[in-house]
Amino acid sequence: MKFLIINGPNLNLLGRREPDIYGYESLQDIEKWLNNRLGQNDDSIEWFQSNHEGEIIDRLHSSIDQTDGIIINPGALTHYSYAVRDAISSINIPTVEVHLSDIKNREEFRKLSVIKDVCLTQISGIGKEGYLKALKALQEICGEGKE
Ligand code: DQA
Repeated sequence: MKFLIINGPNLNLLGRREPDIYGYESLQDIEKWLNNRLGQNDDSIEWFQSNHEGEIIDRLHSSIDQTDGIIINPGALTHYSYAVRDAISSINIPTVEVHLSDIKNREEFRKLSVIKDVCLTQISGIGKEGYLKALKALQEICGEGKE
């Protein structure tokens, strides 16, 4: 099974970006933590981060026939990118939306996710644990994680 974890704009600055909201861990710290939690360090999970909407769309397209499931934290693109939404619905790969912070309890503009409807579920407000929870959900759906 192959899973792709996409992080969007400004998530490369995790650790120094508004740590009171997003914590002190970098994206690389979260990646290492997830690998440790899974007890694996193989190539079944690929991480991709970009600050550019088009690159995220290109990466979604290139996952066709290559990826069993996708976890996406599109950053602020969550709230307005119909192009990312269309890309997710076009590729037809199970996708879970993740946010570190609780987007329902922040500024008004963050309450709307334009990608929510094209994702299996939205996980928000549990920090890095959200990536693990999303992965478990995808593994379950894709037939892994069952005894
Ligand atoms: C975020 C929430 C978004 O509103 C914000 O623009 C981000 C991060 C989160 O993980 O909590 O960049 O997606």
